[in-house]
Amino acid sequence: MCQGPMHEFLQALPKCEHHMHLEGSLEPSLLFDLASRNGISLPSPTEDPSFQSIDTLLARYRRFTSLDDFLHYYFIGMSVLITPADFESLAYEYFGRAHRDGVVHAEVFFDPQAHTSRGVAYNAIVDGFTAAQKRASADFGITSELIVCVLRHLPVEDGEKMYRDAIPHLETGVIRGLGLSSTEKGNPPHLYRDIYADAERRGFNRTAHAGEEAGVDYMASAVHHLNVMRVDHGIKLPEDESVMALFAQRNIMVTMCPLSNVELRCVSKVADLPIRTYLDNGVKFSINSDDPAYFGGYILDNHCAVQEAFGLDKREWERIVGHAIDGSWCSDERKGELRRHLEDVMVRYKD
Ligand code: HPA
Ligand code: ZN
Repeated sequence: MCQGPMHEFLQALPKCEHHMHLEGSLEPSLLFDLASRNGISLPSPTEDPSFQSIDTLLARYRRFTSLDDFLHYYFIGMSVLITPADFESLAYEYFGRAHRDGVVHAEVFFDPQAHTSRGVAYNAIVDGFTAAQKRASADFGITSELIVCVLRHLPVEDGEKMYRDAIPHLETGVIRGLGLSSTEKGNPPHLYRDIYADAERRGFNRTAHAGEEAGVDYMASAVHHLNVMRVDHGIKLPEDESVMALFAQRNIMVTMCPLSNVELRCVSKVADLPIRTYLDNGVKFSINSDDPAYFGGYILDNHCAVQEAFGLDKREWERIVGHAIDGSWCSDERKGELRRHLEDVMVRYKD
């Protein structure tokens, strides 16, 4: 992967991660460990031989055929998370890993419905994650925010109930925003308009996955029906120049995940992603890892893959990382610190 001075520069950039599912950072080693500690039975070798060992599971992760094929493993994986300490370990491991990759601020998704439906208390999840956030801030200086996701493969009413339960935490800022994830095709954004309208009325931050497997029409719907501030994945803008112009004009940030898009067969290679098109058309984006334990790479690997495919220069990276800072849901004071950090790195790595 991109070796030499560009690699060091990419590592040093103060990165903000906007698109990372905490449950998607569950490495197979922790998955097996928690399954045995919590007495959770995983699929038997006759049901699915992938669960024979860490290696066979990792090998299966390299052969996803679609978003739903991945989600099948993602939901089995997270079934091992039971206690607040499990959620804390998961998140703390991610924060440590992200810190080593140069992440200074992380806004991370989580899926309460996938846990409460198994009998895990909502507060066990949030308590575990917030404990990890505090430790990561003290140990690594990393700031972080939680984004609660509505799962779109479940009935809309189920998502509404989860959203209602999350409102007190959204009001206090324990949770910083609302997202929408899981099976995209057949579950268009407009189905969630009531939830998003309420979130907008209450002044909550809003994002939604759109334009990952489905087309640009889902991205347009996320803007028109959900009035989102960001769109997750959002790789389909080149399908419609007028929607692309709308994103640029309204400053709607796209949170891209290059390795995820290749692993889930949304594109055949990173070079097919519209990175250059977005730079040329003023569409702001950040580079993220999505589900790093499943897609073979954390945020720095994603930055390296983009560098290898597009050969960007340092000024272009400064723009990308600057946009990621601006598009973050942290305080202006924190943004100022991150901006100064970026300026220092640009001076340190001046050609
Ligand atoms: N898309 C939709 N839902 C998800 C994803 C994704 O890439 N990762 C985890 N949940
Ligand atoms: Zn995602």
